[in-house]
Amino acid sequence: MCGIVGYIGENCASPVLLDGLKKLEYRGYDSAGLAVVENGEVQVVKTKGRVADLEQKLQESKPLSGTVGIGHTRWATHGAPTDANAHPHTGGNGMVTLVHNGIIENYIALKSMLETAGYTFVSETDTEVLAQLFAYYYKGDAVAAMRKVMQTVRGSYAVAVLTKDCPDRILAAKKDSPLIVGKGEGENFLASDIPAVLKYTRDCYLLNDGEIAVLEKDRILFFDSTGAPLQKEIYRVTWDAESAQKGGYKHFMKKEIAEQPKAVRDTLSPRIVNGKVELPELHLTDGEIRAVGKIHIVACGSAWHVGMAAKYILESLAGIPCETDLASEFRYRDPIVREGDICIVISQSGETADTLAALREAKRKGAHTVSIVNVVASTIARESDDVIYTMAGPEIAVATTKAFSAQLAVVYLLGLYFARAVGRLTEAEEQAKCASLLELPAQIEELLKLDEEMAKLARQFSAAKNVFFIGRGLDYAISLEGSLKLKEISYIHSEAYAAGELKHGTISLIEPGTPVVAIATQEALFEKTLGNIKEVRARGARVIALVSGEHKEVSEFADEVIHIPQADATVTPSLDVIPLQLFAYYMALERGCDVDKPRNLAKSVTVE
Ligand code: G6P
Repeated sequence: MCGIVGYIGENCASPVLLDGLKKLEYRGYDSAGLAVVENGEVQVVKTKGRVADLEQKLQESKPLSGTVGIGHTRWATHGAPTDANAHPHTGGNGMVTLVHNGIIENYIALKSMLETAGYTFVSETDTEVLAQLFAYYYKGDAVAAMRKVMQTVRGSYAVAVLTKDCPDRILAAKKDSPLIVGKGEGENFLASDIPAVLKYTRDCYLLNDGEIAVLEKDRILFFDSTGAPLQKEIYRVTWDAESAQKGGYKHFMKKEIAEQPKAVRDTLSPRIVNGKVELPELHLTDGEIRAVGKIHIVACGSAWHVGMAAKYILESLAGIPCETDLASEFRYRDPIVREGDICIVISQSGETADTLAALREAKRKGAHTVSIVNVVASTIARESDDVIYTMAGPEIAVATTKAFSAQLAVVYLLGLYFARAVGRLTEAEEQAKCASLLELPAQIEELLKLDEEMAKLARQFSAAKNVFFIGRGLDYAISLEGSLKLKEISYIHSEAYAAGELKHGTISLIEPGTPVVAIATQEALFEKTLGNIKEVRARGARVIALVSGEHKEVSEFADEVIHIPQADATVTPSLDVIPLQLFAYYMALERGCDVDKPRNLAKSVTVE
């Protein structure tokens, strides 16, 4: 999703801005631009394409030496990715220059009001409306103009603004879109995400909705939505900038796949004490858990697949009815949520717009909200009643891997915790389940050794036009993830089906040579899935089967068999997903795709 950077200090701004934009590339974008104050004038350079294209354009134009500037990577929402639609945008004949993340919902009405007042527009964006609106209200007091803008617009935004008459200041504000301020010595920074400033400072301020920041070289002022000055506390970043780099791997995705044993271990081990799950983050009594009518699970994308697995896991362990919803559906379908229900919200970024809205909806209706989030102090983390952090570290590749695995780990912990609370788990059973959880990191490590085998399979299957993933129960939940991983990075059409459902239509697409990945690691359902493998094989499918344990009979019906270590049925998703991630990764490589930044996708989707 779009990225914002800002710099004010004594150094040349443009290299700092470019460097920050590169750190934000992982968010997904399709154009880039920056604005630098040059001798009292604001110079804008912007282009569709990559930050490298912007860099090229800057080299070809007059060098910029100004020490104040803002930059942006845009992921198109209103208007195609073109030079004109790229940010920064200007307002008031160049008086105002602005970059924006988010969506202004009432921009059409505002645009027509401004057009009537004589303002003209050169782009199709909602952001240009924001720039002109700011100019419309600006009478020399930038904070007052910003407040008026914030009172007038509806929607989400993180904005950074330069005004020509006051070139030694950057103004920033946010609502429903992240923005942080980095505090330096004689220089200050602005960014939509911490990695963009980590090279320069670890001292950050996290802006809350409705707050305004004024950055000068030597000081930072904060105001609340009424315009009153605010004192904010510094958030010191403790994680390492190194961990946001590729660390010797060819791609972030590969590095993050390899980091999964650690991500799972770091998420599980501190919460398993003497064979017992401890979740001090959870502020629910056993009585409250016993009284829960329903658990609502909401998320988007891969996190929703964790939610699909969570339904099976929580229902079977704790016996509490669970419903898993796509956040974008949940938020608008007036869901039946009762006082005392629990709503589990799963999000790597903690900023996904639909997931955040679903969280607010559940909260409004009286649910106790528990979020499973990777990014510390993100909006979802801050707004939920309880947050259980996944300890995956920063995830850069757009296709999630280690955050997904860490989310699953939290789900197992919650399942055991709830099961104990409702009296469905004896001490001995909990000890045994915890022991099997603690074996997961080593088992994942073992599965990572399938690397060469999956690369070989990818060489055989990379020309496929359609791939199908089938499985039952938890194997179905993981089929969804295997299929999404493959299609999002290799651009091969792929679908996941509950194995028993395939014959109700989709089986007509199976023709000789069509690859079918069959996940058959749920022992209790093995015979059933084997039946479905036979059905597709009879129609000429090339079957890759994932099985747990021996199951020699499978090789009679499958072209390739991947053996998954035997484990408690509940935790097999954590194991199955590893070869599927590797398969997707090598398929994408074989096809020459941009693995870390697949086309049209964003890491953090902060628009609905
Ligand atoms: C985007 C990402 C997916 C992710 C989904 C939800 O679509 O590309 O990998 O699963 O958003 O993101 P979240 O940050 O809420 O987990």
